[in-house]
Amino acid sequence: MNEHVSFSVAAASGAEEPVWGLNSRPNTRKVFIKTYGCQMNVYDSTRMSDALAGDGYVTTEDMGEADLILLNTCHIREKAADKVYSALGRLREMKKDRAAEGKELMIGVTGCVAQAEGEEILRRSPAVDVVIGPQTYHRLPEALKRARAGTRVVDTEYAVEDKFEHLPATEKAKIRSRGVTSFLTVQEGCDKFCTFCVVPYTRGSEVSRPVRQIIDEAERLVEGGVREITLLGQNVNAWRSAGPDGGAWGLGDLLYRLAEIPGLARLRYTTSHPRDMDERLIAAHRDLRALMPYLHLPVQAGSDRILKAMNRRHTTAEYLRLVERIRAARPDIAMSGDFIVGFPGETDRDFEDTLRIVEEVNYAQAFSFKYSTRPGTPGAELSDQVPEEVKAERLERLQALLLKQQAEFSKSCIGKVIELLLEKPGRMPGQVIGRSPWLQSVNVDAKASQIGDIIQVRIIGTGPNSLFAEPAGSLIGA
Ligand code: 5AD
Ligand code: SF4
Repeated sequence: MNEHVSFSVAAASGAEEPVWGLNSRPNTRKVFIKTYGCQMNVYDSTRMSDALAGDGYVTTEDMGEADLILLNTCHIREKAADKVYSALGRLREMKKDRAAEGKELMIGVTGCVAQAEGEEILRRSPAVDVVIGPQTYHRLPEALKRARAGTRVVDTEYAVEDKFEHLPATEKAKIRSRGVTSFLTVQEGCDKFCTFCVVPYTRGSEVSRPVRQIIDEAERLVEGGVREITLLGQNVNAWRSAGPDGGAWGLGDLLYRLAEIPGLARLRYTTSHPRDMDERLIAAHRDLRALMPYLHLPVQAGSDRILKAMNRRHTTAEYLRLVERIRAARPDIAMSGDFIVGFPGETDRDFEDTLRIVEEVNYAQAFSFKYSTRPGTPGAELSDQVPEEVKAERLERLQALLLKQQAEFSKSCIGKVIELLLEKPGRMPGQVIGRSPWLQSVNVDAKASQIGDIIQVRIIGTGPNSLFAEPAGSLIGA
């Protein structure tokens, strides 16, 4: 599970043409979705926009013109719910202004805060019409209908039916591009119960999507122009399902199968738990050219005592040995991780152990956080909480080290000729931004018509958040 993105998703809308209502008047409504949190939420926002497109909604990036505003929320750290309530306070004003003009504005809260707070949101925020948990967003159009008829709706059940089954028919029939790269959720939920983490409570227990559904969706995406797919799951490498051969498949088997899809050039997956990195998955890194050499494998801390208190169920030595095996299979793999400083009971010495494991692994990319008490998790019950200023000081030291490693990794790319997947127009005319195998953004001179191509480029420089390259040699797999 990974929480590094906070942006609004305006997914390609399915209904460019107005939908004609019963009385034959154009009836296009607009939805604005604000997405907080992890890639799973980004994916869910896209699926909500699909579900709503079947109901005549077009997605907009302009909140001001929306008839429906959805906040797709995250609950992983610090004051997430407070932020949602203050955003809702602002939306309440907007709703009042609209009502004064005789216009409708509906407001919905979805995602993990919706799941955690439920009814409470309706109590505290009178402007909210619907509250929908992550398992039931396919029931959103129905909930909106009920809300429009005057009943505010809270739907945070763990639905027995499969939310992934509920693609609107239009979406199934109509293939449309989401761009060059796409997320695809294959697994949801978590049974690990790390003692700091709220995910097992907000997203429920581990559920894997069946192979056939995943292959169908991947094929549809590729037909729509997608070249790179990132398989998502809170514990993606815990994915298990019956294979077409009837055997038990793990994520490694799935990757071997997806790599056979013609036109699908690149595969990634995130986020993994060290305990679920099995032999087959490691072999996939050795064998599959399409599987990109980048692995997000959080360790959280470098002290065995703290790892135990976090219920991570592995030791530092086991993690290091695992990284060694992965690097033996794929020597150019870039490692990425998550870290928490200031877990209850963490001493200076424990923290030094975290710095040590970072030195040993040498991360190309990493995300680090101050421990944040999540009500309802076992960590919240622990008495020896670390003072805020100690957490801040540790975070600063850790981030300095991680940033140094990241910069060194970028520098080590200078002079290399790499394959670049051209993804979107750059800031300057004549420039295109591509993605390196190691997930870096790379600016290069290219034509917009080349977006979707994989070209060879030479890295010639580094910036704070991206690299610069010049074209080098031939086109690969356009
Ligand atoms: N406090 C701080 N960081 C947390 N994470 C999860 N829960 C907490 C928490 N209570 C971090 C972990 C996880 C990442 C997505 O967020 O590092 O891997
Ligand atoms: Fe949270 Fe741990 Fe599950 Fe990741 S593995 S989602 S950190 S409980």
